[in-house]
Amino acid sequence: MPETFYITTAIDYTNSAPHIGHAYEKILADVIARYHRLKGEQVFFLTGVDQHGQKVQQSAAKEGVPPAEFVKGVTQKFVDLWEKLDVKYDEWAATTDERHKRVVQGMLQRLFDEKQIYKDKQAGHYSIRQEQFLTDRERGPNGEFGPEWGQVEFREEENYYFKLNDHKEWLLRYIDNRKDAVIPDFRQLELRNAVEKLSGDLCISRPKSRLDWGIELPFDKDFVTYVWFDALSNYISFAGYDPTIDNYEAQPKEFRDRWSKDTLQVIGKDILIPAHGIYWLIMLHSLGFPNDQIPQLLVHGWWNLGGAKMSKSAGNVVDPELLVEKYGAEALRYYLMNDIVVGGDADFSEERLVTRFNTDLANTLGNLVNRTLNMAHRYREGKVSQVSLVEKNHRECQLLGLTEVHGFEEAFEGGAPKYPSLKPYSVDDAVHHIQAFCFHVNRFVDLEAPWKLAKESPESERLTAVLYTLAESVRVIAILISPVLPKAAHGIFDQLNWKMEPELSGKEERFHLDDAKWGGLPDGHVVGKPVPLFPRIEL
Ligand code: MSP
Repeated sequence: MPETFYITTAIDYTNSAPHIGHAYEKILADVIARYHRLKGEQVFFLTGVDQHGQKVQQSAAKEGVPPAEFVKGVTQKFVDLWEKLDVKYDEWAATTDERHKRVVQGMLQRLFDEKQIYKDKQAGHYSIRQEQFLTDRERGPNGEFGPEWGQVEFREEENYYFKLNDHKEWLLRYIDNRKDAVIPDFRQLELRNAVEKLSGDLCISRPKSRLDWGIELPFDKDFVTYVWFDALSNYISFAGYDPTIDNYEAQPKEFRDRWSKDTLQVIGKDILIPAHGIYWLIMLHSLGFPNDQIPQLLVHGWWNLGGAKMSKSAGNVVDPELLVEKYGAEALRYYLMNDIVVGGDADFSEERLVTRFNTDLANTLGNLVNRTLNMAHRYREGKVSQVSLVEKNHRECQLLGLTEVHGFEEAFEGGAPKYPSLKPYSVDDAVHHIQAFCFHVNRFVDLEAPWKLAKESPESERLTAVLYTLAESVRVIAILISPVLPKAAHGIFDQLNWKMEPELSGKEERFHLDDAKWGGLPDGHVVGKPVPLFPRIEL
């Protein structure tokens, strides 16, 4: 059985409705998952919702409904949004799921039995927003705790602690020995610096007296599990992990098939340190995961608004739901994949969303498909014939070159050896590559001027060859763009009258990266009539 590419995203908090940052991360993971399926690989894509914790309990209380009811409503908003945005996941991780609870309790029990969890008393300042005790390190230059910690109060409490500190040296060695443990590089460096400073253990419980919306500790009924310990475990609980088995090799086959060497976790920059980079990696190690089964972390940046962080309290949150209704899923998917460098931050702009749609999709790609099919009908009754211009005209050679030496795969998989500077998962680079290809083909049309060729000699072999080149380019572009714009890719294939078998209709199986080679359309193939793919957005 081939190894599975296992990809996850952060599970989103259900204390409020989804925003544009959530949508970006899910689409990014969806595009990477679709790219791997395009290559014919087996993919398991997990996403979901983080439903426990104090913030949810508070939001539910504010609305006067029980937390279980509150999260049901918010969860539905996420489910509906991913459906509208064509985010195609294989499994849904909702942390109130019984299966998940059992795994979390099993993990806790094992760590407790192995004396990796102990009980202790703590007194100090506690941040309600971040749900953690604060130390003097968290104080700002003025000696106060900054606004990022929200309301801070003094507390004295008995709790259970996980021996994080025992694994500090292991984590440092792991990071030093794996150059791509975290992508991009500068985040790996940030993580290493944070691990160097690590001191103290992790409090993994909350007394029920103040928080009962969580998973009960299996060894003490008066406590629930700290929300991060609960949430992080979703990555294994929904993949079939058996917490009673400490040896990875002895785990159920279902789990080992998914959780293989190719595990990619897509997260935002705010949850690398300490949650994923420290807690999670140490949790896995302490549960007996060998180093080569530690997941790779892809850390993306943030979408801001006017240079400022989006937040509910500032009232500047961009609602993806409204954007989908206004512009459609493809416009939003394209904008979010195109207008930010993976790993960096970007400023959200509705105006740019519209400009990119009109320029790249309506004027460039849409126009190319439209003119290709129109000319094929006008000059050859829709029939394309396999005639090549290669001998006579090096412009076509350049196009062939662009499809083959395109840097598209490198943008997803990393550069060496042909493109050493390309980092893996540079989805924005892949999109720019396709844009460049579309641009060149449009230029090819203008240079060849088929309308002139037709006027001079309607039956010209050159015109036949130009039309074939165009139809082939459009076919290849549809395959390459399919991870980002699945609907448009189907639209292009439909209009090309290509791969029309009913069982392929609307299915990802219709596209294969192997087919993105020149010469796929057979001699004499008849293309369909053009239908506008990307009607211009008029503001
Ligand atoms: N529930 C935790 C994650 C648990 S994972 C085991 C959480 N949830 S969240 O809803 O606050 O954030 C979910 C994801 O959205 C995070 O990866 C976060 O970085 C990302 N984003 C939140 N705001 C964002 C932007 N403005 N821009 C891009 N991504 C952002 O953290």
